[in-house]
Amino acid sequence: MKLKGLADLDEVKREGLRLLYPDRVKIIVGTATCGMAAGAGKVVETFRRVIDELKLEAIVEETGCIGMCQKEPIVTVYRPGQTKLVYHSMTPKKAEELARQLAEGNPGTQNALGQIFREKALLSGEERVLGKNGGSAPLSEAPDLDEIPFYRKQLKIALRNCGYIDPNDIRHSIARGGYYTLYKVLTEWKPDAVVEEITKSGLRGRGGGGFPTGRKWRSCRDAKGQHHYIICNADEGDPGAFMDRSLLEGDPHSMLEGMIIGAFGIGGDEGYIYVRNEYPQAIRKLTRALEQCHEYGLLGDNIFGTEFSFDITINRGGGAFVCGESTALMASLEGQVGEPRAKYIHTVEHGLRDQPSCLNNVETWANVPAVMGKGADWFTSIGTGGSKGTKVFSLVGTIRTTGLIEVPMGISIREVLEDIGGGVREGHRFKAVQTGGPSGGTILVDERGATVRTEPATGAYTVGIMPESLLDLPIDFDSLTEAGSMMGSGGLIVMDETSCMVDVARYFLRFLAEESCGKCLPCREGLRQMVNILDRICEGKGEHGDIELLEELGNVVMDTSLCALGGTAANPPLSTIRYFRDEYEAHIYDKNCPAGVCKALIAYGVNAEACTGCGLCLKACPTDAVFTRKPKAGESTPKLREGRDLHDISQDKCIKCGACFEACTFDAVVKE
Ligand SMILES: Cc1cc2nc3c(=O)[nH]c(=O)nc-3n(C[C@H](O)[C@H](O)[C@H](O)COP(=O)(O)O)c2cc1C
Ligand code: SF4
Ligand code: SF4
Ligand code: SF4
Repeated sequence: MKLKGLADLDEVKREGLRLLYPDRVKIIVGTATCGMAAGAGKVVETFRRVIDELKLEAIVEETGCIGMCQKEPIVTVYRPGQTKLVYHSMTPKKAEELARQLAEGNPGTQNALGQIFREKALLSGEERVLGKNGGSAPLSEAPDLDEIPFYRKQLKIALRNCGYIDPNDIRHSIARGGYYTLYKVLTEWKPDAVVEEITKSGLRGRGGGGFPTGRKWRSCRDAKGQHHYIICNADEGDPGAFMDRSLLEGDPHSMLEGMIIGAFGIGGDEGYIYVRNEYPQAIRKLTRALEQCHEYGLLGDNIFGTEFSFDITINRGGGAFVCGESTALMASLEGQVGEPRAKYIHTVEHGLRDQPSCLNNVETWANVPAVMGKGADWFTSIGTGGSKGTKVFSLVGTIRTTGLIEVPMGISIREVLEDIGGGVREGHRFKAVQTGGPSGGTILVDERGATVRTEPATGAYTVGIMPESLLDLPIDFDSLTEAGSMMGSGGLIVMDETSCMVDVARYFLRFLAEESCGKCLPCREGLRQMVNILDRICEGKGEHGDIELLEELGNVVMDTSLCALGGTAANPPLSTIRYFRDEYEAHIYDKNCPAGVCKALIAYGVNAEACTGCGLCLKACPTDAVFTRKPKAGESTPKLREGRDLHDISQDKCIKCGACFEACTFDAVVKE
């Protein structure tokens, strides 16, 4: 069915609403990559089998991620006229039990994360009260999902449909207001006005740099060329980042609608999505979404029966980090080697195939329908002076609740880490937060709890000490840059005192050295040399002068590299040297790793006073390095249980895997 006008769209919306809120029980399983990795596939199978066996009139449906990746598989149960129940950590066994409870009309709340009392679709503005009597709770023991700490401070604009719709069905998206904005734009707006509205909204690119989107669109629209290409950057190569993948897996249509609106505003005639082949599920969903857009006349010739024609092709990248850089991405799209070129030629004028090209990130595109649908004034009412709207972050590392979050700009780092993420593991303390991707700034919290900061290299490396806790810094483009870190694409990596800063610097630098395209010598050779030095330091072979050499090399690489990969690469070692120089010195001069991470510099031993002789370490050791022995004369062994032998570790056999350390419940295994 080709949609020709509002009446057609309304008809699909009605159908979509019937699918979203049917007259029977619906079991919705999160099957994005995080869900599948946690076993959601088997959970879906079990629900299908059991409801069949029980002849339960229920629908089993799939959805994207609702953010709590750590508690997947997550299952939402819709019951007509009642609140939705959201369950976590589902297993086939629990699924079978839940299906039986549903058949009896009495679902338990044992694994319930919470219940949903009302659902509001951001774009259609429709609010649906779930549950009888205006949403009164039939199961009082399950909390309101929106009120649990992980969700309370979130605001979802880009992720507005993730977890609510089946991403494989365009009707679900339309039911929540999808493609209405496109219709309005194509029938009521002039292209120039669209660009102006985006400019007015203050939307800035979510792919890392925060470049004003309206300004980019204007330059591209004004550039002369036979074609104007519209491109989506879905390469997402940063370690620890999965924002774009989750968005594509949960709701590809919001991003597609944004691209089509952008094409209309900019005057684009062809679109490309550059997505890494390592994202097979995102590719499948995008492919299906494009098919449906063609079927409904939302892509191709004369969209909505208007004069406007536009189409999109998916291009799968090999998964090189550098191919996320705009010029390298376009070279790769052309079938050339994915190497960056000098930036003085702007891609908005001479981009793909030397034509004007507008490249934006997945999240940026997904924001566009919201900005155009609800207006620039609405968008500017959210966020801070220079950073409007929200930002999606993947919250990872040693934080209690890891996952995907979307927060209004201006929220503090502390609120994100403590209120949303639940803080670091019990008994540990924050050490550092890394923002901005592998070469981004690391916000450091030093031994005394004072906070210090680093500058993300933009050629010049500057650092300074913040007088007050940086954890209270608002998250927005300007504050983070001013504080010497950067927003980046949205990976937030939390580290506690068990992270070795030399090892962390080595990890990021090794990643960047491996991902360097090798086009320019300072990046290709310089990074490799820096990794070699860091390797030596971590192996206990560091020498006097290594720190200075790292600083010198780092500055040269950043000053002389062609693209931002090399231009920011030395930031992790330089920033950690600046603020954790003592850790470097301990490695080099004392041959000691204070965090107890670098294997060559630690040894495991047993504290005889604490050992009970339980033998757990012996069972855990993969190399037979643990042995039993009788206490030596005069050795104090107050906890050694009667009839048991002491345990000890042979340094010759130990491979320092730490299994005994983890296994010992008496803190008798010690790291020295
Ligand atoms: C080494 C490198 C890797 C990058 N990787 C990505 C990426 O994976 N995704 C992305 O959107 N932007 C990435 N960028 C930024 C892009 O070059 C570009 O600025 C961005 O896609 C523009 O979109 P935006 O204005 O919507 O942010 C990368 C930049 C560099 C230097
Ligand atoms: S800085 Fe590194 S990644 Fe960038 S062009 Fe040079 S070698 Fe390639
Ligand atoms: S696990 Fe701990 S307490 Fe038990 S034998 Fe080993 S060192 Fe001793
Ligand atoms: S660190 Fe690993 S190899 Fe060494 S004694 Fe413990 S369990 Fe065995």
